Amino acid sequence: MRTQDPKTIYLKDYQEPAFWVEHIDLTVRIFETHTDVESHLTLKKNPNIASRDLVLNGVDQDIIELALDGQPLTQSDYRRDEESLTLTCDRDDARFSSLTRIRPQDNTSLEGLYQSGSMYCTQCEAEGFRKITFYPDRPDVMATFTTRIEADQTRFPVLLANGNPVDSGELDEGRHFATWNDPFPKPSYLFAMVAGNLSRKDDTFTTRSGREVALRIFVEPQNAHKVDFALESLKKAMRWDEDTYGREYDLDLFMIVASDYFNMGAMENKGLNIFNSAAVLATPDTSNDLRFERIEAIVAHEYFHNWSGNRVTCRDWFQLSLKEGFTVFRDSEFTADMHDRAVKRIHDVVDLRAAQFPEDNGPMAHPVRPDSYIEINNFYTATVYEKGAEVVRMIHTLVGPELFRKGSDLYFERFDGQAVTTDDFVACMEEVSGRDLTQFKRWYTQAGTPRVTVTDHFDSDTGEYRLTFRQSCPPTPGQREKDSFVIPIKMGLLDADGNDLPIRTDADYNPDTQVLTLTDTETRVVFSGVNEKPIPSLLRDFSAPVRLQFDYSDEQLAFLAKNDANGFNRWDAVQQLYLRAILGMSEDERMGKNAQVPSALLDTVASIAGDTELTPAIRTAMLSLPGYAILKDAVDEIYMENLVAARKAVINAIATRYRDIWRSLTEGLAGRGDYEFTAAEAGRRSLQGLALWYWLKSGDQAAFDFAADLYHHAGNQTDRGNALRAVLAGEDHALQDELLEHFYERWQDDTQMVEQWLSMQSSAPNIGAADIENLMEHQAFDIKNPNKVRSVIAGFAMNVESFHDETGQGYELVADMIGRLNGINPQIAARLVTIFSDWKRFEPKRRAMMESTLKTILATPNLSPDVFEMTERALK
Ligand code: ARG
Ligand code: ZN
Repeated sequence: MRTQDPKTIYLKDYQEPAFWVEHIDLTVRIFETHTDVESHLTLKKNPNIASRDLVLNGVDQDIIELALDGQPLTQSDYRRDEESLTLTCDRDDARFSSLTRIRPQDNTSLEGLYQSGSMYCTQCEAEGFRKITFYPDRPDVMATFTTRIEADQTRFPVLLANGNPVDSGELDEGRHFATWNDPFPKPSYLFAMVAGNLSRKDDTFTTRSGREVALRIFVEPQNAHKVDFALESLKKAMRWDEDTYGREYDLDLFMIVASDYFNMGAMENKGLNIFNSAAVLATPDTSNDLRFERIEAIVAHEYFHNWSGNRVTCRDWFQLSLKEGFTVFRDSEFTADMHDRAVKRIHDVVDLRAAQFPEDNGPMAHPVRPDSYIEINNFYTATVYEKGAEVVRMIHTLVGPELFRKGSDLYFERFDGQAVTTDDFVACMEEVSGRDLTQFKRWYTQAGTPRVTVTDHFDSDTGEYRLTFRQSCPPTPGQREKDSFVIPIKMGLLDADGNDLPIRTDADYNPDTQVLTLTDTETRVVFSGVNEKPIPSLLRDFSAPVRLQFDYSDEQLAFLAKNDANGFNRWDAVQQLYLRAILGMSEDERMGKNAQVPSALLDTVASIAGDTELTPAIRTAMLSLPGYAILKDAVDEIYMENLVAARKAVINAIATRYRDIWRSLTEGLAGRGDYEFTAAEAGRRSLQGLALWYWLKSGDQAAFDFAADLYHHAGNQTDRGNALRAVLAGEDHALQDELLEHFYERWQDDTQMVEQWLSMQSSAPNIGAADIENLMEHQAFDIKNPNKVRSVIAGFAMNVESFHDETGQGYELVADMIGRLNGINPQIAARLVTIFSDWKRFEPKRRAMMESTLKTILATPNLSPDVFEMTERALK
C-alpha cells in the first residue's frame, strides 16, 4: 500500500547483482488455509561487483525460517524493507534457504501464486516471483529450476511446472507430489506452476530435425471442447518459426493452461504458457472471427517468445520492448502469412492509431525504451509493444528481409542463454548489414509521434517533380527537443491513369523496395523524366509510425482510393476522406453552420461497396469509419458532442442513401455450409455484418427482421454477434431486450459468452451510467475478475456518448471503479486511469470535470503505487 513516496527506478542506475543464482530448488506445499514455500538457492559471487550484499526480493510472505549455508539467520543478520531483504555473504559459493508462508487464496492481485476458479496458478512477469519466495527477482539473474509441488490429490490431481516431469508419487493424508526440472537457465519472471483438477488434450509436433514434442492443453473440465483451435494454431506457429526464423522448439514438452482470472492476455513461461481463458478457448459457436484471429496470434506470440524472450531475455525491464516489440512483429508477420497481408496491416495500423498515437500524444508518452518507472506493470503499453514492433519492422524495411534474417540468426546465436539490451539487438542488425543505425536508435529513446509534412512542385519544362519532406516531433513529458528520426517512406508516383511511374532520382531511394529514407529535418527529393504532374502515394504499407500530411484534394484521395497499386494506401486514402469529412462537419456544427457530407465521400463509398474486384475483407475495412479514438486524436480541442453529431451524420447519409446496396449486400453474402475460419470466409462474414449494420441504420424494418432472424438461426458466434450488435445500434428497444435476455438464458454457463454479453451491452449506444451500475449488480459480474471488469468498464469508456455525458456521471462511475479496484487489483485499477489521460485536450467544461475526477482518484486513501504513478502522470 501507499508508500508515501513510491520509489522511481532509473535505467541509468542499472548495475549487475553482486550474486548470481545458478540453481533453485523449490518446494511448494499447498494446504487448505495457506501454502508453504521452501527454497534453496545455489549462489555464485559476481566477480564484476565489489559489494557482498545479497539482495533478495520478497513481498507478502511470512518468514518461518531463513538460513545461509545451513546456519539459521536471525533478524539481526539482515536488513529488511517492504520489497527486499539484504544480508552480507562472505563466501563466493553459498546456499541460501528459506521457508515462508503465503496465502494464494487471498491473492486478488493475480500476481505471484493465486487461486483462479478451482485451480492455483502463477503470473510472475514482471515482479510476481517475489510474492512466492525470497529471490533476486530481476531478469538478468538466470537459474535452472527444480520445482516440487505437494497438494491434496483429489482437489489438485494435476500438478505442473516448467520443464520436464522428473518424479511424482503419493504422500500421506491423501496428498501427492510432482517434481519438475527445467534445464534451461531462466529469469524468475518465467517461472510457472499450476495445481488443479484439469482436463487435458494431447497432441504432438515433430520438429524439422525430427524430434517429437508432446503438446498438452489443460483446461477446467467444462472447457474441454474449446481447445482444438489453439492446438492447431500452436502447431502452425511452431512450423512457421522453423520456416521463417529457423527456430526449433527445445524441450520435449510444451504445455498451455487456461485461466479465467488473468490480468493480461497470456504469459510465455518456459514450457508452461498460461493463458487468459479468453485468449485461448474457442469454438465457432462461442467465438467470433476476430477472436479466432486474436487467439491464433496470441498462441503464436507466446510460443515465439520461447526464442525472443526466453532463450534470449531482457537485461532489465527498461528493455521490455526487446522481447515484446520483436515478438509482436513476429506474430503480426505470422498472421499476415496465414491470412491476408493487407488486411492484417490495416488492422494493426487502426490499433496503432487508436491506441498508441494517443498515448504518444499525451501525458503518458514514453520512449519505446523508457528511462524510468515506479511500477513496471504500468509500462506494458501500446508504445512498448506496438510501436516497438513498428521499430523492428522499420529495421526489417531498411536492411531487407535477407539481412534481417541474418541479423536475427546472429542475435539468437550470440546471446543464447543471456539477458541483453535493445542495443545488442540493433548491433546484430548493424553487423550483418554494414549499416550504421546510431541515428535510427532515436526511435528507442525519443517519445512522440513524428510529423512528416510533404509539399510538391512540378516543373513541366524540365520534367522534374520535387517533393519536400519536413519532419518534426512534438515535445513529450521530459523531452522538449527532439533530434530528427530515420524515416523509411515507401512510395510511388501515380500517372493520370493511376499507374505507377518509373522512379528516377538520386535521393536515398531503393528501387527494389520503393523506399525513400529520410534522415534530416528537411529533405528535398527531385524525380526526373516526369511528363505530367503525378499524384504521390506516400507511406505505403505504413512504412513508419508517423503522421504524414500532404495536401490532397478530396478528388485526389478518391482517385488514390480507386487506383493506388498499394492496397494499404487505397484504404488509407478512404480513411483520410472520412476523417476530413467528419472533422470538417464537426467544426461546421460547432460554428452553427449547416454541415454537408461531401459528395466525393459518398461516391467513393458506393464504388467500394460495389467493387467485387476487392475482397470482402478489404471492402469492410474501406467502408468502416475511423472510430472516436482516432477522431479525438486528430483535433486540437475535443468537442465531443460535435464529433458525435458529425460521425452520426456521415453514417446516416451512407446508410440511407445506399439502403438498397446494404440490403442486397447483406442478403447476397449469406453463408452456405459449415463455419470455416479462413480469411475469405471471415471477410465475407465481416462485410455482411457491416452491410447489415448500415442497412439497419437506414431504419428499414426489413433489416430488423433480417437481423432477428440471423440472430436466431446463426450457426456461429460471428453471425450471431453481428446480428445482435446491429440490433443494439438501432432503435427497437423491445427487440434489444428480447435478444439480450435470450442470449443470457442460453449462454449463462459459458464464461466467454457472458463476457461478450457484458461488453456488447456496455459498448452499445443508448446505455447510460445507470445501466452500467445495474450490469455490475448482475450475478454475471465479478469485480475480482479482470475480464468482467474490462468487459463492462472498457466497453463503457468507448461508449463516448454516455461516458462523456455532460453530468459527469460517466466519469464518476469509472473513478469509483478505480477506487474499488485499487485495493483488489492495483494493476487493473491503474490501467483504467488511462481512460482519462486525454483530459487536457477536451473543451473547458469536460476538461475541468475530468481533472477533478483525477484529483479525486489521487486522494484515495491507501493508493497503490500503480494507481499513484498513472494518476500523477495523467495530471501533469
Ligand atoms: N509477457 C506477456 C506477453 O506475452 C505479458 C505479461 C505481462 N504481465 C504483466 N503483469 N505485466 O506479452
Ligand atoms: Zn509478449
